[in-house]
Amino acid sequence: MRILGIETSCDETAAAIIETDYGGKNVRLLANVVASSLPFHAKTGGIIPEVAARQQTTSILPVLEEALKTIGWEPPYKGGAKELPAIDAIAVTYGPGLIGSLLVGVETAKTLSYVWNKPLIPVNHLYGHIYANWIDSKTTGNKRFTDENIPFPALALIVSGGHTDLVVLKNHGDITWIGGTRDDAAGEAFDKIGRLLGLPYPAGPTIEKLAKSGTPKAYAFPRPMIGTNDFDFSFSGLKTAVFREVQTMKELNNQTIVDLSASVQQAIFDVLIKKTIKAAQMYQVQSVLFGGGVAANQTLLEQFAQSAQRFQLNASFFVPEKNLCTDNAAMIATAAFYNNQEIPWHELTANPELYFD
Ligand code: KG4
Ligand code: ZN
Repeated sequence: MRILGIETSCDETAAAIIETDYGGKNVRLLANVVASSLPFHAKTGGIIPEVAARQQTTSILPVLEEALKTIGWEPPYKGGAKELPAIDAIAVTYGPGLIGSLLVGVETAKTLSYVWNKPLIPVNHLYGHIYANWIDSKTTGNKRFTDENIPFPALALIVSGGHTDLVVLKNHGDITWIGGTRDDAAGEAFDKIGRLLGLPYPAGPTIEKLAKSGTPKAYAFPRPMIGTNDFDFSFSGLKTAVFREVQTMKELNNQTIVDLSASVQQAIFDVLIKKTIKAAQMYQVQSVLFGGGVAANQTLLEQFAQSAQRFQLNASFFVPEKNLCTDNAAMIATAAFYNNQEIPWHELTANPELYFD
């Protein structure tokens, strides 16, 4: 079975094709095309929804064409045959996200479902981040992914620019939300604090690099909600603490920037790791999955592995390769395969507020 995935919930325009029936294990990645309007947003220090959506309307068809080319399909106007592409279903992110951006992907997917007469599968973007873990490493070259099948029950930590959530998966589609951020998401904290430090958007990858030359104990920033008896997070106070610290400084020199980066990153990771391990123990999961842009951070994964060992956590852990941690359409097609719930094209509407049920 081949699924075409489409993802346009934030600033990316992405299309991917996965194949699912080879050896019955995970899924094979055939195409993974991502166009980003990031260069437009780097200048403004954050995403301007209108700018993102306008870029997506111009990128969506070229991105789809590029993905479909990998399975030998070209549109008739480019000299291709009139046959339909060899795909069995179309999966699309219908929320959460920016409404203008979501509409581009959703309306394109509905149109293709209509004209090609292919089943349409709506996907929750957050499920997508979790399901990036099921894409076979042999087809992606991922070194960090272990090739075992992922055992249930599993705990997933989603850490992206818009979300920080802990969920328990008893099985495919059987997902229970156990906690999340009450204000800023972890990636949002990186980005907003990065802005205070004069770093380009998105700041997460830059802070990870700078932190390597800094001292994590240089500044004693708060670890918000680290000791609370729940699985919730709060990162907006951290941003205020950094703001206050920066205000007391005469100048931000290189040393202070690397030390602030290391200290901020450590404060965020201490909380994420503590609560993830606590949840893994309480729910006695057999595996821990990571997903979302912040999971691309190598330091987070190394520190989690060390803590897991220290607390004798008896669970395997899984991380998608870096380019599958950040937004992409392969994860959307994969989530569609494991939670296949097709609907008639005329019943699908974008839902920017979509969350876990
Ligand atoms: O999953 P994603 O691509 O988009 C959303 O669904 O939000 O995540 C983007 C977020 C940004 O906030 C970015 O700063 C953060 O992920 N990020 C990182 C790293 N790479 C991306 N944060 C920390 N370390 C990284 N290496
Ligand atoms: Zn995302």
